Amino acid sequence: MTESPPRLSRLVFHGPLSESRADGMVRRLAATRPRSVLDIGCGWAEPLLRLLAAVPDAKGTGIDVNGEDLARARRNAEARGLADRVEFVEESALGTRYGPADVVLCLGASQALSTAEPSTAGALRELRRLVRDGGRVLLGEGFWERPPTEAELSGMWPGARAGDHHDLATLLDLAVEAGFRPEWTETAGPQEWEEFESAYQADLEVWLAGNPLHPLAAETRERLDRHRAQWMSYRGVLGLAYLTLVPVAS
Ligand SMILES: C[S@@+](CC[C@H](N)C(=O)[O-])C[C@H]1O[C@@H](n2cnc3c(N)ncnc32)[C@H](O)[C@@H]1O
Repeated sequence: MTESPPRLSRLVFHGPLSESRADGMVRRLAATRPRSVLDIGCGWAEPLLRLLAAVPDAKGTGIDVNGEDLARARRNAEARGLADRVEFVEESALGTRYGPADVVLCLGASQALSTAEPSTAGALRELRRLVRDGGRVLLGEGFWERPPTEAELSGMWPGARAGDHHDLATLLDLAVEAGFRPEWTETAGPQEWEEFESAYQADLEVWLAGNPLHPLAAETRERLDRHRAQWMSYRGVLGLAYLTLVPVAS
């Protein structure tokens, strides 16, 4: 029997994020000298671990519902000598008992803070509750680069609607309404998206090519083909904004 399909091993970050952009974010957040960092929907928590490495007296908490990704986060923390400064909690972040913290990360995970659709406004209110005055929130949030057509929407995720996201201007307005000022506004570029989407599928594509008769080959092929078609529908339409937000003092 050939080996089972691998999972996401080619991804460094679980989103369209380049090394240089991540470096800039970590530098900007580290300069505020946080003592505590809370990562909502942390996954394997690469940005959190990099921030903790840059601020030697900071402590971190990562929350996620995915035990497999948390196991990868714990292994990486151990390997980098950070295990005694970070805790990973396997539970939903909805109404979380953690926080407030000096820095709150919420990257591609606003759905972990609000069940509304879209989750953005509710998540921003929660993020204001979870961050201390003088701290920072780093929000990675989807937005429409331009209004999607009906044909594009029908090819995206099941049930995709124009109301699933805002445009960038509205996203920034919502952040301001929730009690923040935008310190830094940046958006993932086409190259970051292509690297992310390719790395998301790459190890499975290579596995499938080498194991066409494996019992899991048919469902793997179906999943890969479906995701590729979805990506081709949202490519250039769905954006990802990274907002470094300063809370207005309460
Ligand atoms: C796109 S991934 C981003 C992971 C990570 N923030 C990163 O940038 O690498 C979204 C994450 O949100 C997590 N998530 C979804 N709903 C959640 C919830 N209610 N509570 C905690 N985490 C949740 C998922 O398990 C997943 O790891």
